[in-house]
Amino acid sequence: MARNDRSDRDYDIALLGATGFTGGLIARYLAEHAPPTTRLALAGRNPARLESVAASLARPVGIVRVDAGDPAGLASLAGSTRVLVTTVGPYLDTGEPVVAACAAAGTDYLDLTGEPEFLDLMYLKHHATAVHSGARLVHACGFDSMPHDLGAQFTVDQLPEGVPLTVRAAVRVNGTISGGTAASALGIMARLRQGNAVHAVRTQVEPALTDRQVRSIPGRVHKDPDSSRWLLPMPTIDPLIVAASARALPRYGPDFTYCHQLAAGGPARTAATMAGVGVLFGLAHLPPARRALLRLRPAGSGPTEAQRAAAWFSVRFVGEGGGERVVTEVAGGDPGYTETSKMISEAALSLVHDELPPTSGQVTTAVALGRALRLRLQRAGIVFRVL
Ligand SMILES: NC(=O)c1ccc[n+]([C@@H]2O[C@H](COP(=O)([O-])OP(=O)(O)OC[C@H]3O[C@@H](n4cnc5c(N)ncnc54)[C@H](OP(=O)(O)O)[C@@H]3O)[C@@H](O)[C@H]2O)c1
Repeated sequence: MARNDRSDRDYDIALLGATGFTGGLIARYLAEHAPPTTRLALAGRNPARLESVAASLARPVGIVRVDAGDPAGLASLAGSTRVLVTTVGPYLDTGEPVVAACAAAGTDYLDLTGEPEFLDLMYLKHHATAVHSGARLVHACGFDSMPHDLGAQFTVDQLPEGVPLTVRAAVRVNGTISGGTAASALGIMARLRQGNAVHAVRTQVEPALTDRQVRSIPGRVHKDPDSSRWLLPMPTIDPLIVAASARALPRYGPDFTYCHQLAAGGPARTAATMAGVGVLFGLAHLPPARRALLRLRPAGSGPTEAQRAAAWFSVRFVGEGGGERVVTEVAGGDPGYTETSKMISEAALSLVHDELPPTSGQVTTAVALGRALRLRLQRAGIVFRVL
């Protein structure tokens, strides 16, 4: 087991993007839940806004002025902390220098990306450096993709070892998105072709599995006989993350198949969801339409407290293998912000305080943090249960 031992650094956890909508929630969560000895810092480009966030917190925190486009400033920040959490997105636009600084400095890195192209690019550019320096680069530490990744692992843990396994996830969500999420989501839709090309390069470069097989399948549109809901393929970053965990962990068995779907509801709702997503994809490719959509959700804006209090998510997993079948659920409140800020904060605290498997390079939450993080999330109110 390993622990992040760079304890001679000034801070345990530095949060870049603390002045944003999600960053503000993470700052508050960390200030309220980190053990008193945990040394926290807020980082960003606007000192006055950073001071204002710091003044609203229940404990003193350090302040570091840095622009996410300044490699020297980022090198200094990465060298001063054990864990760097960043919410500066869209990550494809602004994220790479932060990953580069952490990989070089051996600093554990966490983000909230849902952008598959960013994940693949960072693997190609910085995985090898991070393996060498000992940095754990853990992407997608929010609703994308922690409930799916840890939920699939929880489901696998209920099934026999050493046999082919299939896990099918059905996702239900109800919530409102922030300006940062809208910008990232439209960016992903506009760059699908480029994203697929980068993924193809990664597939060629990444060492192939020789004695095991891992597959991610989209599944067909169909009515789920258990829930009577219509299920749709959900081509988010989540199946890529779950597949990466399955590739890295032999516990997922000799032949692992994962299917990730959205549980849309009845036929009318399903048709409306499909039509809505189709229209959004079309508009995302037209810059003026994209700009108009982003004006509806400007940077820094997000759901109100009342909207967050009414939001929820549930992911139901059906796992099968070795003649056994198990149904599990991961569930919680507002997926995008209340629970996301809890998830990434608990991941940061786990990297600092828990005994974890020895890993480095680009790793998933299941691989780097696994059961230690699941226990933390359960204690923090996120449900993992066998139904
Ligand atoms: N995957 C998930 O489940 C999930 C959930 C929530 C959010 N997210 C992602 O998290 C990201 C942030 O979303 P958000 O709604 O919180 O965005 P936001 O409110 O617009 O916040 C963005 C933050 O980035 C900072 N920033 C931007 N450019 C910078 C630069 N050059 N140097 C330093 N700081 C810079 C901003 O600082 P200023 O205050 O100085 O402008 C602000 O603090 C998005 O990519 C979103 O997709 C993902």
